[in-house]
Amino acid sequence: MFARLYERAAPAMDRQGAAGHRRRLLAGLTGDVVEVGAGGGANFVHYPDGVGSVLALEPEPYLRERAARRASEARTPVRVVDAVAEQIPLADGSVDVVVASLVLCSVTDQAIALREMHRVLRPGGQLRFYEHVAAPTRARRALQRLVDATAWPLLAGGCHTGRDTVAAIRTAGFAVDAVAVVDVGPAHLSPAWPHVLGRASRA
Ligand SMILES: C[S@@+](CC[C@H](N)C(=O)[O-])C[C@H]1O[C@@H](n2cnc3c(N)ncnc32)[C@H](O)[C@@H]1O
Repeated sequence: MFARLYERAAPAMDRQGAAGHRRRLLAGLTGDVVEVGAGGGANFVHYPDGVGSVLALEPEPYLRERAARRASEARTPVRVVDAVAEQIPLADGSVDVVVASLVLCSVTDQAIALREMHRVLRPGGQLRFYEHVAAPTRARRALQRLVDATAWPLLAGGCHTGRDTVAAIRTAGFAVDAVAVVDVGPAHLSPAWPHVLGRASRA
């Protein structure tokens, strides 16, 4: 049910800033990319010409079918497969870029997923991320802990609002090269706030 609601809400989110963030997330990329938890394929249209191929992982059947449809319309060659971020079906050091957008909140095991992203990246390769993360104030973080322990993950496809994702990216062995806090419409009214857009590299 969440997958269907998410797809319905996506155009409004795009109008409220998400489309611009997706463009910036992917700007200037070149080479071979793996996108984890690609959802319905909202990013596909924003891949720049320098990208040679995208392997898009999506475990949820309804979203995977939507993504496959969008892949067939994309300028960039995109292949959509049924796989999870905790087990990326690629050899070590085989891609130039990993893309994670609004997915590190939902993966079952964030540490394992990030370790997998690090494993498949070639040395010097980049992780590009667009995520909502733990809030900056104690009061907001307390709210996030409360909703994460109760209904939020059940209602929002396994999403957790309070994950300290940028710290987890560092812990997985990445160097975080840039992080910017970005606005997405009225997201500040939701526990899933703030959003960040960033870049990290595999040393
Ligand atoms: C909020 S949606 C975001 C979709 C898309 N990345 C976007 O930017 O709109 C979260 C996505 O993460 C996927 N997901 C959840 N657990 C996952 C996992 N363990 N590995 C890969 N994807 C996962 C869901 O199926 C869903 O497509």
